[in-house]
Amino acid sequence: MSITQTLLRSRVVEALASPHGVDRYLELVNPMWAAREVRARVVEVHREVAVDGHPPVTTLTLQPTSTWRGHRAGQHVQVGVEIPGSRRTTRVFSVSSAESGPGDRFTITMRANPDGVVSRFLAEAGVGQLLHLSQAQGDFVLPDRVPDRLLLISGGSGITPVMSMLRTLQRRTHRGEVTFLHYAQSPQHQIFAEELAEVARSGYGVDVRLLHPELGDPALSPAWLGRVVPEFRDVPTWACGPAPLIEAVRAAYTGPEGELSPALRVEYFKPPRTSAGEAGGEVSFTRSDKAAPNTGATLLEQAEALGLAPEFGCRMGICFSCVATKSEGTVRNVLTGETSSLPDEEIRICVSAPDGDCSVTL
Ligand SMILES: Cc1cc2nc3c(=O)[nH]c(=O)nc-3n(C[C@H](O)[C@H](O)[C@H](O)COP(=O)(O)OP(=O)(O)OC[C@H]3O[C@@H](n4cnc5c(N)ncnc54)[C@H](O)[C@@H]3O)c2cc1C
Ligand code: FES
Repeated sequence: MSITQTLLRSRVVEALASPHGVDRYLELVNPMWAAREVRARVVEVHREVAVDGHPPVTTLTLQPTSTWRGHRAGQHVQVGVEIPGSRRTTRVFSVSSAESGPGDRFTITMRANPDGVVSRFLAEAGVGQLLHLSQAQGDFVLPDRVPDRLLLISGGSGITPVMSMLRTLQRRTHRGEVTFLHYAQSPQHQIFAEELAEVARSGYGVDVRLLHPELGDPALSPAWLGRVVPEFRDVPTWACGPAPLIEAVRAAYTGPEGELSPALRVEYFKPPRTSAGEAGGEVSFTRSDKAAPNTGATLLEQAEALGLAPEFGCRMGICFSCVATKSEGTVRNVLTGETSSLPDEEIRICVSAPDGDCSVTL
């Protein structure tokens, strides 16, 4: 770290810059100067997929500030954008490029959701657009000692974290056996198609299979997977994709006693619906004076169904944008299944579903 950076990050300078913090002043001079925060500038925009009538998929290459500490293959970042006329809005995207070091460029790849605020904005972003970032997060990562045999499974835009892994393995010239299975609607919808074709041709032991079940390719089943990767339940596996694909993967990795193989790691882009709260009782949002029978969905979804618009970012319990106070009742974390009944508790309403009666200050 340079002397300037050490000085800028010191408590004395931070205290002198109070209450705004030194980064507010640096940003005014040059948006790419930062002492603690991470920002990035878009330096390249690449359209990956453009099929008529379907949301486009775009890759942005980002030049981060020197405060970026790098990422491990498979991790994600929170991306904040200032859309004219609204507050800063944050969403989560996986890094799609190979592992990066401090200050290194990296890419994110997103499908522009037609109702989506941030992905549509990003898909239309031009070179020069400034973004606010978190540091890389998440433990869906390649281990430091990569196993000789591994399996990467993805569907749709869920390809991004496993593509970062594949690119990292290629860069490290990993010489083990890698199977890369990807499900897409059709060859025209295939993200990173050219690069994957090149890996398949020259791939040093990478078995790339691009599958389109809607066009007749086999869907994922234990029998089919067992033919492609014998003993797959013992092979370290990373899977990311839409809920039906992940459910099929989990079912395949579940043994006869109902136990899930420890070789499987899964990344979700949306909370799985495996552990909803118990419907019954009433949910009330006290500040807005709204109440309705509890449906068992997350408190964020129940609030939205009543016409409220609470702030949210990731809808996955990652960014804490949706924190609200639960004054009464029991909530279940839909990701972990844990319950909590403490009064006046701060909860993330995007991953909290009420069990019975519940009141939230919203
Ligand atoms: C760890 C992780 C990694 C991810 N990586 C990627 C990635 O690499 N690439 C990628 O394309 N996506 C990725 N995602 C998914 C991405 O974060 C979401 O799709 C995100 O919602 C995109 O933001 P958006 O601005 O397009 O849509 P949003 O504005 O968030 O809207 C998305 C959808 O949310 C629902 N919604 C929004 N507002 C409301 C409301 N008020 N009421 C009811 N429903 C509403 C709608 O169904 C809408 O279509 C990742 C998600 C996670 C958790
Ligand atoms: S919206 Fe990100 S934690 Fe709830």
